[in-house]
Amino acid sequence: MVQSEKFWDRLASRYSRTPVSDDAVYQKKLQVTREYFRPDMEVLEFGCGTGSTAIVHAAYVKHIRAIDISANMIEIAQGKADAKGIGNITFARSSVDEFEMADQTLDAVLGLNILHLLDHWDKAVARVYSMLKPGGVFVSSTACIADMNMLYRFIASLGNFLLLIPRVSVFTSRELEDSLTSVGFEIDHRWHPAKNKAVFVVAKKPE
Ligand SMILES: C[S@@+](CC[C@H](N)C(=O)[O-])C[C@H]1O[C@@H](n2cnc3c(N)ncnc32)[C@H](O)[C@@H]1O
Repeated sequence: MVQSEKFWDRLASRYSRTPVSDDAVYQKKLQVTREYFRPDMEVLEFGCGTGSTAIVHAAYVKHIRAIDISANMIEIAQGKADAKGIGNITFARSSVDEFEMADQTLDAVLGLNILHLLDHWDKAVARVYSMLKPGGVFVSSTACIADMNMLYRFIASLGNFLLLIPRVSVFTSRELEDSLTSVGFEIDHRWHPAKNKAVFVVAKKPE
């Protein structure tokens, strides 16, 4: 099995130079996310990549803790934040599994293009629920590969079979929502821009 950390380390530099695939969709997700933000909020982003999203959101909240399994991603993210003089993001190399955070301490958690890359994505959902304060929100954007065209499902199966890429978890948007609601979340917002695009869901922990 390709080790996830090494895979993403190798990809980091290219990832940072690659423009978002659909800027209109990305901007809408940023805007919807921001509607949930308040200036006093403590936010976690896991799988933050090279920090672009944390950097654009930083002005709207008190503090963002942004973690990623790849040290190279984090180094690039930190460099970008430093260059912009942004001081309220704490970047750290950490996998989702090893990340430590007390229960009920966060106002919002962002998991963007990451859940399908986790072996135990449903455990991550439960963990996010625990870390959030009552009323807190989990903003996610997830490739629900089981709902996509056969080509995507084939690529995921082949990649998993050949062990050429880190394992990809294949599930439907229904399974994603069921996982969220089964731990206690209420679905507050859902948007599926198109069949083969990531599903954008904002789930709220009840007050
Ligand atoms: C597809 S990229 C998404 C990056 C960013 N969230 C975005 O939307 O552009 C997935 C990111 O998740 C990170 N990642 C993969 N597995 C992880 C894990 N178990 N814990 C934390 N980060 C992980 C990778 O290093 C990579 O930066």
